[in-house]
Amino acid sequence: MLSIYSIMEAALRLPKGDEIVSIKRFDQINPFKSELYKLYKLSTMESNKASKDYYSPVTISPANFKKEITSSTTLVYLRNGTPIGMVHILDGYDGAAFLRGFIVNPKNRREGIGTALLEKCFEVARKYGHKKAELMIWANNPNAERLYSKHGFKVAEKTMVKHL
Ligand SMILES: CC(C)(COP(=O)(O)OP(=O)(O)OC[C@H]1O[C@@H](n2cnc3c(N)ncnc32)[C@H](O)[C@@H]1OP(=O)(O)O)[C@@H](O)C(=O)NCCC(=O)NCCS
Repeated sequence: MLSIYSIMEAALRLPKGDEIVSIKRFDQINPFKSELYKLYKLSTMESNKASKDYYSPVTISPANFKKEITSSTTLVYLRNGTPIGMVHILDGYDGAAFLRGFIVNPKNRREGIGTALLEKCFEVARKYGHKKAELMIWANNPNAERLYSKHGFKVAEKTMVKHL
């Protein structure tokens, strides 16, 4: 059933039972909606935690979840039909593909899922005509920074915040 909107393009070899699907419409998440919502909650919670010293928390709600899905192309990593990773692709600055909400289930980290999602992002972004990819990363997230650096991302700017 998923193959209707799955975007497998042979280039990326995934283990048996694994696939990455591209979601553009909200109804496409129906087969795994509650599990994907858990990933969204985790992603927002981790982001709120990492940014808590500088920014107000983002509200976790079904409405904001729907907004995230409908305002982007979402790549979902499925293992035997269950989402274990996700990332959103939006239009960024100066023609870039902007990646947001990158998350892998803690139980499945360090298995190459983040790498597979990132490579699929590049493939999809190129297909959409983007010539570069960009993302924001909170300070003190060396694991994600290592992943991005390994894939050729360079720091383009830094945001500095002081409380008044
Ligand atoms: C960042 C994240 C998406 C990486 O996903 P992942 O599936 O674990 O990534 P991979 O297994 O493909 O790891 C790729 C590389 O990233 C680096 N890396 C990832 N996790 C790491 C860790 N815990 N410690 C050290 N290096 C790590 C390593 O260089 C790793 O390559 P290696 O395993 O060959 O050494 C995942 O850790 C996550 O969901 N973190 C919480 C949310 C988050 O920070 N998202 C990014 C927001 S900008």
